[in-house]
Amino acid sequence: MPLVTSKEMFKKAYEGGYAIGAFNVNNMEIVQGITEAAKEERAPLILQVSAGARKYAKHVYLMKLIEAAIEDTGLSICVHLDHGEDFEICKQCIDGGFTSVMIDGSKHPFAENIKLTKQVVDYAHSKGVVVEGELGKLAGIEDDVNVSEKDAAFTDPDQVEEFVKTTGVDSLAIAIGTSHGAFKFKGEPRLRFDILEEVQKRLPGFPIVLHGASSVMPEYVEIINKYGGQMPGAKGVPEEMLRKAASMAVCKINIDSDLRLALTASIRKHFAEKPGDFDPRQYLSPARQAIKEVVRHKLVHVLGCNGKD
Ligand code: G3H
Ligand code: 13P
Ligand code: ZN
Repeated sequence: MPLVTSKEMFKKAYEGGYAIGAFNVNNMEIVQGITEAAKEERAPLILQVSAGARKYAKHVYLMKLIEAAIEDTGLSICVHLDHGEDFEICKQCIDGGFTSVMIDGSKHPFAENIKLTKQVVDYAHSKGVVVEGELGKLAGIEDDVNVSEKDAAFTDPDQVEEFVKTTGVDSLAIAIGTSHGAFKFKGEPRLRFDILEEVQKRLPGFPIVLHGASSVMPEYVEIINKYGGQMPGAKGVPEEMLRKAASMAVCKINIDSDLRLALTASIRKHFAEKPGDFDPRQYLSPARQAIKEVVRHKLVHVLGCNGKD
């Protein structure tokens, strides 16, 4: 089974009313935990690599780990650059074997975002690689922020057709109220499903991507806080909201923080119980297992992509 693009995965996900999990990878245990769960659940899979991950582990190590996982599990995997900020990093990843890249031009004005995204699309498509663009800036909804400021960060549905048509992107990340990290909402979690619906109307059949989609699973936050961590007020996107998004046009759901929390909770618990351990295999084995169980939970209960390989 090979490295694949997300093209077929998204087509089937859109038609089937489920979403593909895009999980961030940074080391061997994370790659193994995710791919073991995907294999057992027969799920299609996107592994994504950020600029920070490339800096930490080096491009070649991550690529080889993913190739090893493909050989070991027999899975087809899409390898994706997460939040590419310029043409150069996208080109490096395309030339270095990734099958998908994100060009995140969301911080630029609309016309500049289009120009940059189109430059990446032209190069990527000439090499058989697919591209995710982004419109709108991710932000949490805060009770004390007024409506016009809030709306400024959300994706403007009036812009999506022109953006997709002019750039030729294969998928589009939109901002509807999710945000990165473990502190997504100060008050009640709220997502702008009205914007998602409007985008879906303007782009029928087109795959939408949701970033910042960890649920910040309370069971792991609890363990972290119990064993010396300090994460009061950590809050994520409720699972039922993600399931709703997955049943709509959202075909790719990005999850990183929940993996970090599971891994950290496992290691904190391990050292609280066995303070004398100093063999990394003793604390990384249960950490890898924790990643596997989180991913299994997401595939089956949140994304609905189990059995869809
Ligand atoms: O969207 C960001 C991802 O969670 C990756 O985070 O840049 O710390 O690797 P990172
Ligand atoms: P979380 O921080 O919610 O896991 O989001 C990850 C993400 O969007 C990676 O691009
Ligand atoms: Zn993201």
